[in-house]
Amino acid sequence: MYAKKLLFEDLSSIKFKMRTTPYHFNLLSDEERLSAFFEAIKEKCNGTVYDIGSGCGILSIFASFYSDFVYAVEINPDSAKTAKYNTKLFKNISLINADAREMVFKDKADFIICEMLDTALIDEEQVPVINSILKNLKDSGEIIPKGIINGAEAVNMDSNHICYDDSFAGSNLNHEIISNFVIYNEVNFNMKIDEDVEAIIEFKISKKGIMTGIKITTLSLLTENIICGPTEMFNPPLLIPIPKINVDIRDRVKIKLSYKMGGGLDSIRTKIEGIS
Ligand SMILES: C[S@@+](CC[C@H](N)C(=O)[O-])C[C@H]1O[C@@H](n2cnc3c(N)ncnc32)[C@H](O)[C@@H]1O
Repeated sequence: MYAKKLLFEDLSSIKFKMRTTPYHFNLLSDEERLSAFFEAIKEKCNGTVYDIGSGCGILSIFASFYSDFVYAVEINPDSAKTAKYNTKLFKNISLINADAREMVFKDKADFIICEMLDTALIDEEQVPVINSILKNLKDSGEIIPKGIINGAEAVNMDSNHICYDDSFAGSNLNHEIISNFVIYNEVNFNMKIDEDVEAIIEFKISKKGIMTGIKITTLSLLTENIICGPTEMFNPPLLIPIPKINVDIRDRVKIKLSYKMGGGLDSIRTKIEGIS
């Protein structure tokens, strides 16, 4: 095991020495995301760790300071090559270019880091990948992140197609929130997960006007103590249009929302169930 002396301030020098793809460069620039993962890994990791979807290898490097051995698995050949370069001086990291769902691991993991998150886990493979590698986690083992919480709000939005909320990136606000925030779904990664989500969400309208969509916000629980996101590069809220409804203060609007986690944005369906 390496000496436990890595500080978050040391990250800047590590990051500057790393090779990245343009996508992973943006991920590395998101200090809020990175510092939250750093704290979670520092708090939790020891023993044998898998870093699934390792990208350019930054989370594997964090984990290598606190663990005996890190298996880093990355599906994309270019990213895997970059990660191999970035981790070459770390003797306790093995970089594997493979689909994590098809991996056969020699040792069971004490910790699995799996950062393939996206808003509500719809468009990335986090859930199918976790479902297939859970058998490789020791009974006492844990996953970082631990899970997510999804909430929704009624909105009056500009777009008539599904889009991410880019107001995070400093553009003009493209929607107005007109209801309370309703938590409709929680996902715990330490157990087999049903990939199909179906929820009836009841919104209490707080502003007279037009409801044209719903906004989904995902909070990621990295550990019991660390909640992260949304940030600019990490799960920006998702705006989903519905047919226009006129609403008044204190109306209650019920919407059925369904999708498949890992099934892509095309799997999203909404239905207006009623207004009272
Ligand atoms: C959101 S990026 C995160 C990268 C890195 N963990 C980080 O935090 O900077 C997710 C990574 O997972 C990889 N990935 C997606 N599906 C995968 C799979 N089935 N097996 C292995 N890697 C996968 C992608 O290629 C991408 O590099």
